[in-house]
Amino acid sequence: MATFNHETIEKNVGLMIVLVAIVVSIAGLVQLVPLFFDKSTTQPIPGVKPYTALQLEGRDVYLAEGCYLCHSQMIRPLRAEVERYGHYSVAGESVYDHPFQWGSKRTGPDLARVGGKYSDEWQRLHLRQPRDLVPESIMPAYTWLQHQPAEANQIQAKMRAMKTLGVPYTEAEIAAAPQELEGKTKEDALIAYLQGLGTALSNYKSKANYINY
Ligand code: HEC
Repeated sequence: MATFNHETIEKNVGLMIVLVAIVVSIAGLVQLVPLFFDKSTTQPIPGVKPYTALQLEGRDVYLAEGCYLCHSQMIRPLRAEVERYGHYSVAGESVYDHPFQWGSKRTGPDLARVGGKYSDEWQRLHLRQPRDLVPESIMPAYTWLQHQPAEANQIQAKMRAMKTLGVPYTEAEIAAAPQELEGKTKEDALIAYLQGLGTALSNYKSKANYINY
């Protein structure tokens, strides 16, 4: 009679795979599931507002152009990162981000707190020709964005989609959205998005907050 002991598992690869999968799944669920119910990951921190129509459009430009392939938007709670970029990122800052843009690829600097770091004009020149401002930059020039109009006819559908994901847009905001985009270019939208990044956590510069946010 075969006894079911550890040796049985070790000698049976198929059984081993199944059991490992079960153990890893349970361990994964134990880590993941509480986060869906924890307020610090599901509630916006004070000051976080849904993107304006223009910013939401700019965020789509950011995704479409693949900016995330070179830029992360998550400052880790490590001294070197906090000294360079500002207060580390907290989950409550990105509850309205679908999908979030944390990432880990940093060919360029992290952008989680780039909002307000430069003027709109700087951002404009930098997008058109990064090397005019940062001679050693390897960032591509996005010259076409200034010529492409923001997609005003799709913004309402985009906002409705966000609403189904829990972003509290009001009907009035959705109704006013196409007008907000009128006459704006994709470049304007992208800059509006960039200038809002990380600004809600306004006390991030305070070192006192570095350990206990
Ligand atoms: C091939 C990689 C690459 C891509 C793609 C890229 N960037 Fe960059 N980006 C960089 C590098 C490298 C720097 C640092 C040099 C500089 O400032 O130009 C940078 C710098 C920046 C900065 C200034 C950050 C700071 O704190 O000084 C902003 C803002 C920025 N990028 C936005 C964007 C946006 C928006 C897009 C998409 C439209 C984009 N980047 C796409 C590589 C990239």
